[in-house]
Amino acid sequence: MRWFVGLLIASLAVAGVVTQMLRGQPNPPEPPAFASPEQRYAWVLSTFLPWLEQFREQFHNVPRSDGEFLRWLIVATKRRKALEIGTANGYSAIWLGLGLEATDGRLTTVEIQPNLVKEARRNLQRAGLDKVVTVLEGDALKVVPKLEGPFDFVFIDVGPRALPFFEVVEPKLSEDAIVAVHRPPFEGALRDYLNAMQQRSGWLTTVVQTGAPTAIVLSVRVPKRQ
Ligand SMILES: C[S@@+](CC[C@H](N)C(=O)[O-])C[C@H]1O[C@@H](n2cnc3c(N)ncnc32)[C@H](O)[C@@H]1O
Repeated sequence: MRWFVGLLIASLAVAGVVTQMLRGQPNPPEPPAFASPEQRYAWVLSTFLPWLEQFREQFHNVPRSDGEFLRWLIVATKRRKALEIGTANGYSAIWLGLGLEATDGRLTTVEIQPNLVKEARRNLQRAGLDKVVTVLEGDALKVVPKLEGPFDFVFIDVGPRALPFFEVVEPKLSEDAIVAVHRPPFEGALRDYLNAMQQRSGWLTTVVQTGAPTAIVLSVRVPKRQ
């Protein structure tokens, strides 16, 4: 009998999580009317992103430290045309979008799961970034070859198999493009990608420990000598 009650409780818990994923997140804070973009930034940083962070594990979002780093990188290197592969619910796209809004740039982000595409669009709209970020639905390996480049920044966040995504994106990159790949917090993740990129002719790759145990692998082209 005990095992039956345990099984029943576990099934109800799983059903609850699945229903919540399908329906979307409960009670999001609705944005007030903003008098200026600065007021909106303040609300996104102090209220909306912390609310989204409750669901970080459910959606496999990058940690906040990675989001802050990505935004900084976009602004510091004045990126204008960015691509993200692996949107989930739009958490990292919001950080990238905040940076690109400051540089008057745009982000295209690709997600394979239709329910997540809807969730991401809703979250980007709440953050006031729906004019900066376009969410595309589909398998990035099929979608990216059809996109118009060149992209000067790419963020790949699809788990440990990053190399096929880099290869599909490479023909779409500008000469000065930065390719950032999120390294998930499990042992050995991205080892093949790192080895391949460190041996890849014409590319320079390093790992930035943004928030232990996760990291971001950054690659740029080695400039050609005149
Ligand atoms: C780690 S999550 C992305 C988290 C997100 N970057 C963030 O930090 O908010 C990886 C996402 O990649 C998506 N994905 C996996 N394979 C894909 C593919 N071939 N094309 C597009 N999206 C893909 C998954 O559905 C999942 O939502």
